[in-house]
Amino acid sequence: VTLLAPSPLVLPTPVNHHPVRREVTGTVLEVTGRLPAELTGCLARIGPNPLRPSTGQHAFAGEGMIHGVRLRDGQALWYRNRWVRSGAVSRSLAELPLPGPCHGVSDNANANLIQHAGRILALGEAGVLPVELDDELNSLARFDFDATLAHGFTAHPQQDPVTGELFGVAYYHELSYVEHIVVAADGRVRRCVPIEVTGNPMMHSVALTSRHTVLFDLPVIFDAGEAAAGSRFPYTWAKDRPARLGLLPREGSAARWVELDPCFVFHPVNAFESGDECVIDVIRHDRVFDRVRRAPGESVPSMWRWRVSAECGVVACDQLSDFPQEFPAIDERRRTMPYRYAYTVAMRGGGAVCGGSALLKHDLVSGETQVRDFGPSCETGEMTFVPRHALSAEDDGWLLGYVFDQRTCRSRLVVLDAQDFTGPPVAQVGLPVRVPTGFHTTWLN
Ligand SMILES: [Fe+2]
Repeated sequence: VTLLAPSPLVLPTPVNHHPVRREVTGTVLEVTGRLPAELTGCLARIGPNPLRPSTGQHAFAGEGMIHGVRLRDGQALWYRNRWVRSGAVSRSLAELPLPGPCHGVSDNANANLIQHAGRILALGEAGVLPVELDDELNSLARFDFDATLAHGFTAHPQQDPVTGELFGVAYYHELSYVEHIVVAADGRVRRCVPIEVTGNPMMHSVALTSRHTVLFDLPVIFDAGEAAAGSRFPYTWAKDRPARLGLLPREGSAARWVELDPCFVFHPVNAFESGDECVIDVIRHDRVFDRVRRAPGESVPSMWRWRVSAECGVVACDQLSDFPQEFPAIDERRRTMPYRYAYTVAMRGGGAVCGGSALLKHDLVSGETQVRDFGPSCETGEMTFVPRHALSAEDDGWLLGYVFDQRTCRSRLVVLDAQDFTGPPVAQVGLPVRVPTGFHTTWLN
C-alpha cells in the first residue's frame, strides 16, 4: 500500500496525442503472462482520431476511432482499429454513407461505448445519435432505439445493474430543455421527460442512485460566438452562471435543485442513497473551457464526495483524494449502491487530461489509496473492471486497459489482478500499433 504522494506524479507527458492514419487488423499478437480463460470478449477503447488534424482544433472534435482486442479461451485473437463512420469518415474512405436516421448538426459518435440490449453502441456528445457496431467494431447504422428516441442521445447513460435500464440526460443547443431518457432493458426508450434549464448547459453525464437521476447543471454552456467562429465543440465557461445539482426522482418530472460552488463534472464515480441523503462521488474540475477553450486542462481534477439532501441542500463537500485524477471506474455491479473501491487515472501536470503514468485504487472504507505507476515513459488511459464471475467479491476480478510506451511507440493491453494492484500484470498483449490517448474503455463481453 502506498499512501498519498501526489507530487512525484508530475512528469513529462509522452507524446501520444496525434492520431493514427490507418485502420489495421492484426491477428498475430504477442502475449506475455497468462490471459484468464474467463475473459471472453473485446476490450474496446474510443476517442477522437481526426481525419485531418490541425492546430487549434477542439480536443473533443476529432472523428471517433475504436481500438479493440478480442480475447477468448486464454488467447488474443485479434487487434482492430476502426473509425466510427460519420459522414466525413465515409466520404474520406470513399464509402457509402451509413444508413439510419439523423439528428442535429453532428454525427460524430466519438465519446463513449456501451453494450446494451444485445447491441454495441458508440455514443457522442451534444445530441449525437448512437452508431451501432458489429462485434468486429465495424459501423452498421445510426441508431434511434427503433424509432423510440425523439431527438439525440447522451454520451454517458448509467445502467442500473439490477434492472438493466439505462438512465441519461440528452442536451442539444436548439432545445430550451434537456431530456431525461430511460431506455428499457429491451433497448427501447420507455420514458422521455423534458427538464427546463436555461442557457443550454453541457451535461456530459449523470449520476444514478436507486431512487434518483442526479443532474449536473453547471456553468459550461453553448456559445453561439464560438459556433459562429467555427468551433466544432462550442461550449464555454459561463462566469456568472450558478452551478447546481438536480435530484430527479427516476420516475418523476421535476428535479429538486441544490446550489453548488462553481465547478464542472464530466464523470461521476458512483452515487447511492444513504438515509434521506444522496451520496454523490465525482471527479470535480474547478473550471473548464474558460481561458483554455479547446481542451479541459486549466484546473486540476480531483475526487470529491458530495452529500446532498433534497430537503436541506448540500450537507457536505469533502475532497476524497489529493491526487490529480480523472476517468473513474468501479465494479459496475455496485452502480447505484454503497461501494468500496474506485479506480482512476492519475493525471500528469501540464494540461494532459486524458492519460497519466499511474493508476489509483481507492479503498473508500479504509481511506487508503494504492498507486500503480507504469513509469515515466508510459501512459495509461481509463481502465475497466471485469469481475472474475457473477458472484465474486467487489474487487475480485481484473482491470483491463491500454498502456502506451514512448520508448517503443507501441501500446499494449494490460490485465491486472485488481486484488494485487501493484503486483506484476496477469498478462499483457503487445499491439502492432499505437493506441493514441483517448476517452473511454469498455469491456464488451
Ligand atoms: Fe466521458
